[in-house]
Amino acid sequence: MEPIGYIESCFRDKFGTPRQPGLVKKAWAQLKIRADLQPEESLQGLEGFSHVWLIWVFHQNKTARFHAKVHPPRLGGATMGLFATRSPHRPNPIGLSLVELIRVEKDGIVVAGADLVDGTPILDIKPYLPFVESLPEARSGWPAEVAQEPIRVEFTEHAAKLMADWQKRYPETALQEIIEETLKLDPRPVVYRGYEAGESPYRNEHAVRLFDGDIHFKFVGPNLVSVHDILFTHN
Ligand SMILES: C[S@@+](CC[C@H](N)C(=O)[O-])C[C@H]1O[C@@H](n2cnc3c(N)ncnc32)[C@H](O)[C@@H]1O
Repeated sequence: MEPIGYIESCFRDKFGTPRQPGLVKKAWAQLKIRADLQPEESLQGLEGFSHVWLIWVFHQNKTARFHAKVHPPRLGGATMGLFATRSPHRPNPIGLSLVELIRVEKDGIVVAGADLVDGTPILDIKPYLPFVESLPEARSGWPAEVAQEPIRVEFTEHAAKLMADWQKRYPETALQEIIEETLKLDPRPVVYRGYEAGESPYRNEHAVRLFDGDIHFKFVGPNLVSVHDILFTHN
């Protein structure tokens, strides 16, 4: 299989990329399709759909070793059978994401809500068919049984000022909403969690790369994140 193109995504690293599509609703991504696939013709008719499936490759996986049981982050250390999860580490590292189709362009598409890292190879696009694929009565398995406390995000005065300047360069993008939704998902790996009230043996400051900004944050309470700095890579 050959990729039909490579996605450009606001999420520059695996760290911080949402663990499922639709969780950061306005997350921006754009796919330019290979010219030999004649995008002007092959995309014709897609504009009538509000959502599409992206089928893609977990190209940034570092290890190919097979594990029948995996540790989903929301289980806080417990294991689950690989095929009962959406883990990136699978015998065939293929990702499947339902995203909102914002617009069809001459040579590709713009989508929102993707959980893909910048540069991800895309194998296919298929329209989402709600009349067969929307199943409101479906059971959600173990994820439905895991309760998650809501997390609040605050910006220091310094970070808020940087945000305001940054926003001027991205007038059409809801930067603050994207950051808040991203951090509310608690991107930290499980080992870093649980030390918010006291001393941690691990680093307790982290950064998520979004567009050309490094968002520096720390958990200042179990359910409170403080964004305290934004560093830019454009200058
Ligand atoms: C849990 S997977 C789910 C992906 C997809 N919705 C699925 O179910 O197949 C989402 C995570 O994959 C990771 N990821 C995204 N793009 C990737 C890539 N190109 N290579 C490796 N990992 C990636 C990110 O850490 C993201 O949080």
